[in-house]
Amino acid sequence: MECIDNHLLYTIKTRRSIRKYTDEPLPENALRHILLAGMYSPSSRNRRPWEFILVNDPDMLKKMSGCRVGSAKMLEHAKAAIVVIGNPEVSDVWIEDCSVVMYGMHLMADYLGVGSCWIQCRLRQAEDGSSTKEYLRHLLHFPENFEVEAILSLGMPEQHPQAPDIIEELLPKLHHNKY
Ligand SMILES: Cc1cc2nc3c(=O)[nH]c(=O)nc-3n(C[C@H](O)[C@H](O)[C@H](O)COP(=O)(O)O)c2cc1C
Repeated sequence: MECIDNHLLYTIKTRRSIRKYTDEPLPENALRHILLAGMYSPSSRNRRPWEFILVNDPDMLKKMSGCRVGSAKMLEHAKAAIVVIGNPEVSDVWIEDCSVVMYGMHLMADYLGVGSCWIQCRLRQAEDGSSTKEYLRHLLHFPENFEVEAILSLGMPEQHPQAPDIIEELLPKLHHNKY
């Protein structure tokens, strides 16, 4: 398949998960653009079953880093985090809708030069043995009928590793007309 780069494909190809952040503040307007990239996402039947909790309090971010066993440590040094919660009463496909939101925000962060990482919350355990959902609900006080999809951690990247060229691995995943 011919790979013709345009600006959007370039961002998609070079995007990385960034877990180490400097002390620099996020650029002005970055959070606004990242949140808007999530909020303008498509959703099934246009139900938009998601809500966002923007966290920039350093103490809260440190506490949140315990929401997963080992996999959320980057929150300790993050400048902000966006918690995406979804309401299953609003849509039976809230997981898909919340995932679309997460990817839009992750991509926008990379485009703006902000480092970010997706932290899986659904179906995961916190360091204290409770579920990630219960751990975060205790800290963030979101209503009982919301589920936690994921957290996007945000900070200025210590470094942005180059994305490996994986096109040869990807091409066999494409099937034409039938498998
Ligand atoms: C659904 C999903 C869940 C993820 N969960 C975590 C996580 O809990 N902690 C983490 O450090 N990275 C997490 N990641 C990031 C992946 O590890 C990362 O995307 C993958 O290793 C590829 O690296 P890259 O994003 O730099 O290309 C997650 C990514 C996705 C899409």
